[in-house]
Amino acid sequence: MTEKKTILTGIRPTGNLHLGHYFGAVGNWIKLQENYNTFIEIADVQALTDNFNNPEKVRKNVRELTLDLLACGIDPKKATIFIQSRIPEIAELTVYYSNLVTIARLQRNPTIKTEISQKKEIFGNSGESVTYGFLGYPVSQTADITALNGNLVPVGEDQLPLIEQAREIVRKFNSIYGETLKEPEHLLSNLPRLKGLDGNEKMGKSLGNAIFLVDGEELITKKVMEAITDKNKIRKDDKANPDVCMVYYYHKLVSKENLETICYECKEGKRGCVNCKKELAKNMIEFLKPIKERRRYYENNMNEVDKILEEGTKLAKLEAEKTMHQVKKAMKIDYFE
Ligand code: TRP
Repeated sequence: MTEKKTILTGIRPTGNLHLGHYFGAVGNWIKLQENYNTFIEIADVQALTDNFNNPEKVRKNVRELTLDLLACGIDPKKATIFIQSRIPEIAELTVYYSNLVTIARLQRNPTIKTEISQKKEIFGNSGESVTYGFLGYPVSQTADITALNGNLVPVGEDQLPLIEQAREIVRKFNSIYGETLKEPEHLLSNLPRLKGLDGNEKMGKSLGNAIFLVDGEELITKKVMEAITDKNKIRKDDKANPDVCMVYYYHKLVSKENLETICYECKEGKRGCVNCKKELAKNMIEFLKPIKERRRYYENNMNEVDKILEEGTKLAKLEAEKTMHQVKKAMKIDYFE
């Protein structure tokens, strides 16, 4: 029997999950948990690199995120959800790995580069907003992955440079201290990035175009009614091109049974956009129903949620301790072990 491969993925507790998270990542994790040894990290330490002056926000969102994950269908019997800051071994590994990467290399990391230029837009050009902790978060992310022995890391497209960085650090470690760590590989979902209903390439909280899993029916309907459609269609019975319409893009995700009809009617000018949007809103609400029901269950059983986090973190810590032991041995700092 071959051993199940281990998946490690992480998510920052900085807000509620939206459809972009669901279709781009979490929906995929639900399938993966069936066949892999799955760890999902609530990356509170990483969230603090950007939110160190707002600890309340991070704390609150640890629970919110856990509720959202369970609501989506992450099954605590199949996947282990754990809190990053409760695993000190991750912080310890970060220190050792930080010798294995240059500052210049971190500054060249495309994900970091983009994030630094976004910071400059907010804080001006002084560079003062870029802390040591922020610049080093790819190192800490390498510690997340290797602590849990993650072979595969399911992430969105924007995270690929971070996985590459982790691979480099692992190779460097192994070449200096001997073969100890596994080189991780990324795993992209079929839809690594969900477009916004406003036509933006990405749905994101900061872009103001997100539909959150916790949004109520009215709010969802309102957001859907504002979606971008084929701009060449002026009148209700004009023929249109569904391929340039964001409403159709979302119908493809939540209106599977009726999709052919929707496409045909749109092309033939037999479907007005207002009705088409109403149908989309209805189907989206329907799609989110089981997610909301599960959330309600867990909200009413917060003891269970706390227990899931506590047990998951215990299990993850045991794994991290094993890795730490091997790492210390390889680095010849296993003095009393
Ligand atoms: N950087 C990831 C994000 O912003 C979150 C994350 C933290 C992560 N640790 C990880 C992803 C480990 C994969 C593996 O979404």
